[in-house]
Amino acid sequence: MGDKCSTEAPTADCLRPHRIVLVLESYRKTRTSAKSCADIRDHLKKIAARKTPLLLSCINSMAHFDKTENPLTAGQRVFERYYLKRTLGEGGMGVVWLAHDRVLDQPIALKFLAPHLVDDRKELDRLKSETRRSLKLAHPNIVRIHDFIQTPQGAAVAMEYVDGWSLWSLKVDKPGQFFGSEEIAPWIRDLCSALQYAHTEAGLVHRDVKPSNLIINSRGQLKITDFGLSRELQRGPAHSASHAPVVGTDWYMSPQQWTGDPPAVSDDIYSLGATIYELLTGKPPFYDGDIFAQLHEVIPPSMTERLFELGVNDPNIPLIWEETIAACLEKDASRRPVSARDVAARLGIITP
Ligand SMILES: Nc1ncnc2c1ncn2[C@@H]1O[C@H](COP(=O)(O)OP(=O)(O)OP(=O)(O)O)[C@@H](O)[C@H]1O
Ligand SMILES: [Mg+2]
Repeated sequence: MGDKCSTEAPTADCLRPHRIVLVLESYRKTRTSAKSCADIRDHLKKIAARKTPLLLSCINSMAHFDKTENPLTAGQRVFERYYLKRTLGEGGMGVVWLAHDRVLDQPIALKFLAPHLVDDRKELDRLKSETRRSLKLAHPNIVRIHDFIQTPQGAAVAMEYVDGWSLWSLKVDKPGQFFGSEEIAPWIRDLCSALQYAHTEAGLVHRDVKPSNLIINSRGQLKITDFGLSRELQRGPAHSASHAPVVGTDWYMSPQQWTGDPPAVSDDIYSLGATIYELLTGKPPFYDGDIFAQLHEVIPPSMTERLFELGVNDPNIPLIWEETIAACLEKDASRRPVSARDVAARLGIITP
């Protein structure tokens, strides 16, 4: 992000609320030393307390990114059998590392849980049971979960390492930051196939389908990550008390999921639609302002309209893609396509 406020004490220009959010995001990405991170966080807390409780909760939930609380380094041996190689990224739950499994002599991805999750017994138990349920998922387009590890050293989910890039990173590298429908069609076919399998054969819904959870491997196949890692865990301590979104990760959730209804296939169908919408236009259906209100009250623009809004002069979205994605984004869950296979069939990327 390159924000100049990220590694130094905030200046007057940094004290405006929108700047604080930018600082938080860059702080998360560029933290340099525990001392300066803690200093920045303390400064921001004082500012945020005067501005809005939401910002304060954001800052508190970011404490777990401090190096002091997560002292992992390349070359370190963890949980007896793994050697850490490099970080693959980090999200709301913690840091993901590429590691080498010396027992099976193969690469592995380790998703370390942030301390605030490890310390929360209820959340930890829920994550364990979610992980146990997802162990049974065996599909070529779903990242295989191997284990849930918990020791005094910390807790982590061990999973298949995917040698590739997430669709989110591939998208931001594109000119205009969006794909054409013909480019993503094979990936969407993989995605629908994986969701169909999980919904019908394993009885599981994902609840967090989004571009950063879809990785394209070096052979061009799509793999879904984070199957079974429940949304609630990622939302941070104070989020459930408010419908306000925290740094963008709620852009793909159905209205029913936002309001706390039990998990349903229709939630994944909505998120699938929101994901495709973003891949084809660069932005999810709702991305600015009060997402919760828009999600319930506003029909998103067609993808063609969105591209026009973003200054693209010659949008080229096939009508069938427009209609199918609009159906996935219906507010009324019963009006969405009934299955992921139905979505793929409507798009004409599988034979019905
Ligand atoms: N199994 C994996 N193999 C390879 N890379 C992975 C794997 N799992 C995650 N990653 C990488 O690590 C990054 C961080 O993943 P993580 O799930 O922690 O965060 P996220 O998906 O970006 O956000 P959120 O926490 O909101 O889901 C991903 O974007 C991806 O690039
Ligand atoms: Mg993820």
